Amino acid sequence: MRIAILGTGPVGIALGNAFIAAGHDVVYGSRSAGKEGLPAPVTTAADAAGSADLILTALPGTAAIPTLETVGDDVLAGKIVLDISNALTPESTLAYPNDSVGRLMQERFPDAKVVKSLSTMYHGVMTDPTALGATTVYVSGDNEDAKTVVKSLLTDLGWPEASQLDLGGIETAVGPEHYTPLFFMTLQVVGTPVFNINVVH
Ligand SMILES: NC(=O)c1ccc[n+]([C@@H]2O[C@H](COP(=O)([O-])OP(=O)(O)OC[C@H]3O[C@@H](n4cnc5c(N)ncnc54)[C@H](OP(=O)(O)O)[C@@H]3O)[C@@H](O)[C@H]2O)c1
Repeated sequence: MRIAILGTGPVGIALGNAFIAAGHDVVYGSRSAGKEGLPAPVTTAADAAGSADLILTALPGTAAIPTLETVGDDVLAGKIVLDISNALTPESTLAYPNDSVGRLMQERFPDAKVVKSLSTMYHGVMTDPTALGATTVYVSGDNEDAKTVVKSLLTDLGWPEASQLDLGGIETAVGPEHYTPLFFMTLQVVGTPVFNINVVH
């Protein structure tokens, strides 16, 4: 699958390397097209998204929708958008305290198939989950086919099916996104970002 990763930060780089290792074709979309030193070619967000089967927003949550605006409704129509972002204010509080980037993105681009996942753990855990034993990754989205594609990508990253917890429609993205403050509080106490939620029942 050809995956356009928008954003060339730590998450974009980690996921790009992992998807390439799993046999996928990756292209980056960046504000600095032509940037070197990344695991795959770097072009603009619009060019990267236009050539891809799936678009992954590895962007600050508040920049995700504005960046997709530069891609355009036509390109996004029918495409899967995997949003892994968290939206914080400069003071590190929730930017959308009663809402989520995932739901707002689906509302703004109704013809795209937005799926929220991978936002609740450190990038080193996103791409090497089994190092922690059994842990949980949440999935939210309105389109079942798009979620099936994303779940298959999660499996490629090393998340067993049993670890993938489908919360339901995109309105449920508010839950994982609002975990962000607790993630940082936990980080302060445990002293390492290599931890994760494990739902047992
Ligand atoms: N770091 C983690 O382990 C982790 C874990 C879970 C979730 N997340 C979430 O995943 C997302 C990406 O994380 P990250 O640590 O890689 O973030 P980041 O380094 O802050 O930003 C990622 C990339 O987004 C682009 N970008 C930054 N500001 C932008 C703006 N104002 N407008 C458009 N593009 C902008 C930049 O790429 P270009 O310069 O190439 O455009 C940047 O390298 C964030 O929402 C974060 O909350 C991160």
